[in-house]
Amino acid sequence: MASAEELRQGAWFRNAVFYEIPVRSFYDSNGDGIGDLGGVTQKLDYLSELGVRAIWLLPFYRSAWRDEGYDITDHYSIDPTLGTLDDLDRLVTDAHAHGIRVLGDFVSNHVSIDHPWFQAARKDRGSPHRNWFLWSDTGKEFSRTRIIFRDLERSNWTWDETAGQYYFHRFYATQPDLNYDEPAVRAEMTKIARFWLGHGLDGFRCDAVPYLFKREGTRCQSLPEVHQFFQELRSILDAEFPGTVLVAEANQSVPETVPYFGNGREFPIVMHFPLMPNLYLALGEEDPRRIRHVLQATLPAPHGCGWAYFLRNHDEVSLEQVSDDEREMFLWIYGRYPRTVLNGGIRRRLAPMLDGNDATIAMMHALLLSLPGAPFLYYGDEIGMGDRLDLSDRDGVRTPMQWTSEENAGFSALPVDRLVRPPVTDPNYGPAARNVAEERSRLGSLYHQIQQLIAIRSANVEEFGSERLAAADAHATSVLAFWRDQPSARVLCLFNFSRATVTGTVSIDPELRSAPVLIAGDGTIERQESNLMYTLGGRRYAWVRFVRPVPPLGTPAAAPPESSPSR
Ligand code: GLC
Ligand code: CA
Repeated sequence: MASAEELRQGAWFRNAVFYEIPVRSFYDSNGDGIGDLGGVTQKLDYLSELGVRAIWLLPFYRSAWRDEGYDITDHYSIDPTLGTLDDLDRLVTDAHAHGIRVLGDFVSNHVSIDHPWFQAARKDRGSPHRNWFLWSDTGKEFSRTRIIFRDLERSNWTWDETAGQYYFHRFYATQPDLNYDEPAVRAEMTKIARFWLGHGLDGFRCDAVPYLFKREGTRCQSLPEVHQFFQELRSILDAEFPGTVLVAEANQSVPETVPYFGNGREFPIVMHFPLMPNLYLALGEEDPRRIRHVLQATLPAPHGCGWAYFLRNHDEVSLEQVSDDEREMFLWIYGRYPRTVLNGGIRRRLAPMLDGNDATIAMMHALLLSLPGAPFLYYGDEIGMGDRLDLSDRDGVRTPMQWTSEENAGFSALPVDRLVRPPVTDPNYGPAARNVAEERSRLGSLYHQIQQLIAIRSANVEEFGSERLAAADAHATSVLAFWRDQPSARVLCLFNFSRATVTGTVSIDPELRSAPVLIAGDGTIERQESNLMYTLGGRRYAWVRFVRPVPPLGTPAAAPPESSPSR
């Protein structure tokens, strides 16, 4: 077991699988119907058995709960419905004992309208907090700023009767933006980060990072001031809490997202928003070409950094980074049910988007797990949980984790009608059809497939943890192929995006004299001289490992293999 100190060392995250947890929906430890920190602690054995090495907890601070905790009313305390500071300390200690790191959520762009800072500011123009927010007499400034919750809000400005002015908000009107030109705001946010790292957190997923600074005439996103703020924060945290991991949520285009690495000086991890929708589009088209293009444009990440790959998260599938045509195609494939579309994206879970097909779900996880960087799993996707379109906003993808087949999903001691949110009722995806207890006890279940993939990835950590990815030609339009390699061995990863069986070949470096070994997935492989012949079923994948010959004693080490295709 790793000590807390060991946990902090190195670019550990490239070898780690992350798991996102909306605390309120995971497990209720005290029988009040609401998931809590103690519930996460009780499920650490489950997470560690799955192979998870880091968890990202959605906001657990005191909140008005109008946006799943992203509307904070006190940054220095735990919301009483989720537990106490002692509960967090226990969770962190126990998680570290399980070799699992803990990330909080750093919500820096806005606070709740109920926060005492905003309450003081709106009541009194002379209040020291007045300048912590952005005010206007006309609500006409920053008119080039797009509206993110476009189905839910009409403007980024809302009139406040008490204040006698408009205030600016990038998200809900109940979430006034902070004014980052005010030095006291920047200092306070740094203090908040210190406070939670002092409680043993290993880092943060940083919410809505592009939007902190606003400048007239711009789109008010990704301004140089934003990068400066986070680089300063990073250097402070690195000095005081070495190895702190910051994960950027920057849902932008490739050229606007890459700079969040700051050439190794800003975010060690950046969420790969540009890739995500392309994974689904490629499935629909049965052609992974677009995935290859995005990877080429974004790999490798700067040294010591890594991309975070994800299929789903607690929000809608965002389609902000695709063209109008692509969006149309996406909605045609995945958005055919009424009430699916939200803010131009799709508020669905992974399993129902993929028609509940376990093989496809496993292949998509295999892809995440083979890319250089950090895979982020969304709770419940490992058992193929579904969603509820009858719940409002994004609540339908945040239903109680399904631990057992019971009606209340084994989530709480309370009956089903007294839970924080109703569990999924769709017979294909509800607790009776999909739950941890059943999938754990059935070999070959989706849970076991994903658990095995994680285990195999960890056992081949040198290849999968490296920064290198070299594209390969699989001589079949529907097959994505690439090498992950290290001086000692290479792994060839093959994914068939077609529904039909495909046969093809990949050429092999003649230096690789060993026989290929299928280490995950299925299909058949056969080596013929310097070619690998493969057959892959529809929507199936294969990881094929070649051991490099060990040089005889006294010979210098072989030159490193071909480098990544991008640079
Ligand atoms: C991020 C979060 C989302 C939240 C928003 C406002 O996009 O992922 O859930 O509503 O920020 O904080
Ligand atoms: Ca509870």
